[in-house]
Amino acid sequence: MAGLIPQPFIDELLARADIVDVVGSRLNLKKAGSNYQALCPFHTEKTPSFTVAPNKQFYHCFGCGAHGTALQFLMEYDRLEFPEAVEALAAMVGLEVPREVGRDRSGGNQRLLEVLAVAERHYRQWLRSHPERQRAVDYLRRRGLSGEVAARYGIGFAPTGWDNLLRQCSDRDQQALLVQTGMLIEKDGGRRYDRFRDRIMFPIRDRRGRVVAFGGRILDQGEPKYLNSPETPVFHKGRELYGLYECLQQERHPHEILVVEGYMDVVALAQHGFGNAVATLGTATSTQQVERLFQTTRNLVFCFDGDRAGRQAAWRALENTLPALRDERQARFLFLPDGEDPDSMVRKDRERFREQLTGAMPLTRFLFQELAADADLHSMDGRARLVERAVPLLGRVPPGVLRDLLLDELARIARVDRQHIDAALAGRPQQQLQQRRADGPGPTGGTTRRRQPQRRTTVRVAVALVLQRPSLAAHALPAELIRQLDLPGADVLAQLIEILSREPHLTTGALLERFRGSEQEPALWKLATWDHLVPDAGMENEFADAMRQLETLLARQRLQYLQQRLERNELTPEEHAEWLALLRAKSTQGG
Ligand code: UTP
Ligand code: MN
Repeated sequence: MAGLIPQPFIDELLARADIVDVVGSRLNLKKAGSNYQALCPFHTEKTPSFTVAPNKQFYHCFGCGAHGTALQFLMEYDRLEFPEAVEALAAMVGLEVPREVGRDRSGGNQRLLEVLAVAERHYRQWLRSHPERQRAVDYLRRRGLSGEVAARYGIGFAPTGWDNLLRQCSDRDQQALLVQTGMLIEKDGGRRYDRFRDRIMFPIRDRRGRVVAFGGRILDQGEPKYLNSPETPVFHKGRELYGLYECLQQERHPHEILVVEGYMDVVALAQHGFGNAVATLGTATSTQQVERLFQTTRNLVFCFDGDRAGRQAAWRALENTLPALRDERQARFLFLPDGEDPDSMVRKDRERFREQLTGAMPLTRFLFQELAADADLHSMDGRARLVERAVPLLGRVPPGVLRDLLLDELARIARVDRQHIDAALAGRPQQQLQQRRADGPGPTGGTTRRRQPQRRTTVRVAVALVLQRPSLAAHALPAELIRQLDLPGADVLAQLIEILSREPHLTTGALLERFRGSEQEPALWKLATWDHLVPDAGMENEFADAMRQLETLLARQRLQYLQQRLERNELTPEEHAEWLALLRAKSTQGG
C-alpha cells in the first residue's frame, strides 16, 4: 500500500486537530475543570472516569487505564489501523496525507502500479481496435451498456490467445512485474502466459484512482465466469470496493451508496442513473470496507438476492457493519426477488427498483427479525437463547445512543429487564478490545491493569515533568550531557529534550505519539499520567531542582572517571585542571 507517513506530518496533524473535537464527535463530553469527562467507552461504568485533557491532547481513563492521543482514540473507537486513523484525522482537519515515496517500504509498489496502468491501456485499446473487438462490443451492447458508461469505468477487452499482453512487454523486468501483479502466469519451466483471455475487463481502482487489479468476465460461456486478480502487494480484496472511485468522481459526498455483489450490477446501475453503486470483490463485506463507505456517506443500502445465499451474505454484511455503526449512520437491506439481481431489476423497471430502494429494511429490523426467527419467543428458553445470541452482536456496536436503543429493543422482545441485558454485556468484559490489544502491534497498556505507584527517582520526575509540560524542556541540560548519565531512563530523557529542542511546540500527545510501538511507550504513558503531586505552580521549580540534581550527579560521575585516570597516571593537563575544579566544587557543596 502507501508509503510511510512522515513524522513531521503526524506532528502537524496532531497540532491542528483538537482531541476534544475528535472525542466529542463520538462521546458526550462534559467540561470538568480544565478537562472534559465522559463515560468510558472502553469499559462499563456508571460514573465518568474517562478524561480528555485539551492542554495535553490525550485521553485517559482512570477506571480501566485506557489512554492515547486523538489517533489512538480513532484506532480504538472506530477500530481503524494506524494509517487509516491518520487518514481519518487528516480528513477531519482538511489535510492531505503525504507519503515518503523515496522511503516507501514498498518502493516496488510504484512499479507494480505502472505496469497495471499499462495493461489497462492495452485492454481499452483492444476494445476499440482489436480484430476480435466486435464480439466484445456486441456483448456489452446486449447487456445494455453505452460507450459512455464503458469509458467511465474503463472497461476493456482481453482477446483470445495466450500472449496478447505478453507480446506487448518484451522487457523481462516488466514481465516479472506483470507476473507479480497476476496479469501473467508463470509456469514451472519459466514459461509465461496471459491470465485474462477472451474476457471483458473491469479495472479495479483504489481510492486515488490507480488501477490495482482487474476482474474479467468470460464472453458468453466458459469457466470460471469471473476471474479476478490474485491478492498482491497492491491489491487486497477485503479492502477495495469496485466502483467506489468512479462513484466519488461523480459526487464527492453521495447521499447514499448501494452495495451490490457484481461488477455488472455496478455498471448496469450506473447505466440507469445509479452512479452510486459499489461491489465487493467476491468476498463478504468487511468492516474495513463498511468503514470506508461510511466515511463518504451516511446511508448504505446492501442489495442482495432474496435466496438463501443472499440472506446469508446479508447477515455477514450485517455482522461486519455493527462495529461501524454510529447514531448518524444508517444501513439498510434490500432483498431482491429470487433469481433477480440489481442488473436485471434496473433494466426491467428502473422506477420499481427505485421504490424498492426506498423501502429497504433498516439494519435493526433485519437484525431482530433474524434473531427472533431462530428462537421460540413463547418459551423462556427461547427468549434466553435470543439474549445469548444477541448480546455478543450488540456488544460489537460502539457505545452510544444507537447501542442503547438496540439494547432496549432486545429487552423488550426478550421480555427481560434491561439490567439483565447490561449484566450479560458486562459479563463479556471488553473481549474484543483486549483481543485487539493482545494481537495488535505495540503495547498500549492493559485495560484493567491497576496502576502501580511509581518510585520517585530524579530522572523519572524529570521525564514526567517534561511530558506533562513540554515547555520545561527549554530549561533542561543539553541532551548530550544527560545522555552521559549512567542512570536508567537518562536516554529517554535526552531523547525527549532533543525532540523538543527541534520542535518546541509539540503537545504531550504528539510527543507520546512519536514513541508509538517503541519499548519505552508504556512507561512514558505511565509517567505522562503520573500524579507526582507537584502542583502546577511548582512544576518549574521542581524541574529546575531535578536538573540541578542531575548536574551534580554528572559532576560526580565525571570526577570518579577522572580519579580513575589519575590513579593510572593518564590525566592530560586539561583534565587535571578539570579534576581540581570539580573537587573544589564538591567540597564547597559539602557533598
Ligand atoms: P454472479 O455469479 O452473481 O454474477 O457473481 P453476476 O454479477 O450476476 O454476473 P453476470 O450478470 O452473469 O455477468 C457476482 C460476483 O461474484 C464474483 C464476481 O465478483 C461477480 O461480480 N464471482 C462470480 C467470481 O469472482 N467468480 C465467479 O466465477 C463468479
Ligand atoms: Mn447478473
